[in-house]
This record gives sequence, C-alpha cells and structure tokens, in this order.
Amino acid sequence: MTNLLKISEIQKSFHDGRSELTILKGASLELNKGEKIALVGQSGSGKSTLLQIAGLLDSANAGEVTILSEKASEMSQARKAQVRNLHIGFVYQHHHLLPEFTALENVLMPQRIATGFLSDKHKAHARTLLKQVGLENRMSHYPSELSGGEQQRVAIARALMCLPEILLADEPTGNLDPETSAEVEALFNELCDEMGVGVLYVTHDMELAKTADRIYKIANGVVEVVSEK
Ligand SMILES: Nc1ncnc2c1ncn2[C@@H]1O[C@H](COP(=O)(O)OP(=O)(O)OP(=O)(O)O)[C@@H](O)[C@H]1O
Ligand SMILES: [Mg+2]
Repeated sequence: MTNLLKISEIQKSFHDGRSELTILKGASLELNKGEKIALVGQSGSGKSTLLQIAGLLDSANAGEVTILSEKASEMSQARKAQVRNLHIGFVYQHHHLLPEFTALENVLMPQRIATGFLSDKHKAHARTLLKQVGLENRMSHYPSELSGGEQQRVAIARALMCLPEILLADEPTGNLDPETSAEVEALFNELCDEMGVGVLYVTHDMELAKTADRIYKIANGVVEVVSEK
C-alpha cells in the first residue's frame, strides 16, 4: 500500500493576545493510494485546521506531515508551494474562487501557475472536469453568477486540474442537494478506484461519510478511527 499522506502527532495552538487555545493535541492520520477517507467532528473541533496543515497551507506547532515520503519539516516555503501545486488538490470550505475570472478560467488557474501557459489539452481537460461536476452550461459564468453549490463544484474541478495524487476537500458537499452530492461522491469514487487518487474529505453528512474506506473522528484535539471497511 503506497502512503500518500501521513500526519503524526500534530499539535496546533492559536493565540488571541492574552490566552492560548490549543486545538490539536497530537492528531494523527494517514491516507493511502486509492483510499477515500472521511473526517468528521463537531463544529470548531479542528477539522479545517487539520486539513490546512495536511495541505501545507498552515504549519503545526509540533508533529510531522509527510507527503509522498517527504517531510514538511524539511521543505522550504518554495518547496511547499511546489508540492502543493504538483501533488495536492485542495477544496476550501469557502471556495475562494477568483471573482474576476470565469468558471473555466478559475479551473485553469492552477495549471497556469504550474506551467506558465495553457495548451488546448489543458483547456479540454478543464472543460471535461466542469462537465463531470455538471457545469457544462456554466463555463463562462463568473462566480457572482453562480449559486453556492455551483461555486463549490467549480472549486472541486479546480482542485483536480493538475491531476493531484492527493485530494483534500473541506465539506465539498456542504451546499449541495442529495442528488448533486451523489454526483460528487461518484466522482470521488472514480478518482480513487480508477486513478488511485487518495481523497480525504471533511463532512457533516454521515451518509456520505459511511461510503468512505475509513472514518476518522476528531474530538478534544485528537483523531481516532471510528469505522474501517
Ligand atoms: N486563525 C485562527 N486564530 C484563532 N483561532 C482559530 C483560528 N483558526 C481556527 N481557530 C479556532 O480553532 C477552532 C477550530 O477551527 P476549525 O475551523 O478547524 O473548526 P472546524 O472543525 O473546521 O469547524 P466547522 O465544522 O465549523 O468548519 C475554532 O474554535 C476556531 O475558533
Ligand atoms: Mg471547518
């Protein structure tokens, strides 16, 4: 089994001037090739914090993140940006689409950053991704012209643009109706089963979580396995 992501004994505190709030107190989990893993836990338990650390968007106070055998503690900031761009697709809890670009341009953005140019093949791939998330008729819409669920689906397509081995998704179906959620779930299954992508997603939807190979629950700053297939 090829390990894609390993999070070991992560600790994370936030300071608000006077007091210190410890959110993660030794959180560990792993994601292997082709696995679909769900992360559940109450609001405020630290799911987004952990996902941001896993995606090298934030750093921990202690512990280690290993991406494809490379330790985050040994990466420079430039290397972290490169690893993120090459290997990790990230779906933010709050989409973060660029308002002045269309859906298609938003999906293409990571590719533009990675290669500095866009080929016809890249554009065709971006169109295919938008079709896969059911937005073939919304490609030239700007984010302000899209519903919340549509913006979320553009963000999922964008995360997949550079063919990442690891997909980290923070409540990817949070704004979606059951039917559209099922389509996203089918897309995740296809990525895992056919392309060997490892998908780690945060969800409050227990029905979606139940379809995962493993469910991790975060509570009191630590992560434990609550179910495994
Ligand atoms: N930059 C920050 N500064 C201070 N506190 C923070 C910061 N980011 C997160 N927190 C705190 O850490 C805790 C965990 O936040 P996080 O966003 O990880 O929760 P979550 O599990 O994703 O919740 P939700 O399900 O509501 O999205 C919260 O209590 C939050 O207030
Ligand atoms: Mg969150």
